[in-house]
Amino acid sequence: MLIQPIETQRLIIRQFELQDWGTVHSYTGDATVMTYIEEGQMSETQTKQFVEKNSSNQAEAFPVLLKSQDQLIGHMIFHPWFGPLTYEIGWVFHPIYQGKGYATEAAKALLRYCFENLQAHRIIATCQPENPASYRVMEKIGMNREGHFRKCNYRGKNIWWDEYFYAILDEEWIRNNA
Ligand SMILES: CC(C)(COP(=O)(O)OP(=O)(O)OC[C@H]1O[C@@H](n2cnc3c(N)ncnc32)[C@H](O)[C@@H]1OP(=O)(O)O)[C@@H](O)C(=O)NCCC(=O)NCCS
Repeated sequence: MLIQPIETQRLIIRQFELQDWGTVHSYTGDATVMTYIEEGQMSETQTKQFVEKNSSNQAEAFPVLLKSQDQLIGHMIFHPWFGPLTYEIGWVFHPIYQGKGYATEAAKALLRYCFENLQAHRIIATCQPENPASYRVMEKIGMNREGHFRKCNYRGKNIWWDEYFYAILDEEWIRNNA
């Protein structure tokens, strides 16, 4: 997807540029940050490939920059999901920028963009029950937990992850933002 830059009080969400990869790798190369991310900890090559893929009109991830420092601090996942007018969102932030409300601020702005500019009907997000920071963001932006899928995601070596499934509908977003 291509998006117009989205500006909030403290942040800008834009398209990736190839030279972003080094900053991105400062957190995608961190095993702790990537514990609950499908791809897991990335090598430099994997981060370069990730940024390259997402610098194109096939982008499914968008960097978040702190305006005051012109600093890339994380990225948002954002792409069409199964079903018409349905999108998935997600988030990954560098550890030193976590716990400051940035993911919530970026996610709220992305919801607004999606409902107002793309006429979205439904936006979904998933995470593991062991990742409260992530489902807390979902709850703070008005998403509802619709499901708890048990041992649905095979991680290899006989390990299965549970998954929480959250969503927000256009009518809920309009009601919350009237
Ligand atoms: C998930 C993540 C993006 C959240 O980013 P963030 O900028 O720190 O999020 P925010 O500051 O907007 O909000 C985080 C909320 O989670 C809460 N939280 C954080 N850790 C928590 C924990 N261990 N238990 C309970 N709540 C927790 C915070 O207190 C805050 O809620 P509050 O405002 O009610 O106090 C960040 O932790 C991250 O990058 N994690 C690693 C990548 C990841 O797991 N991504 C999600 C994959 S599904």
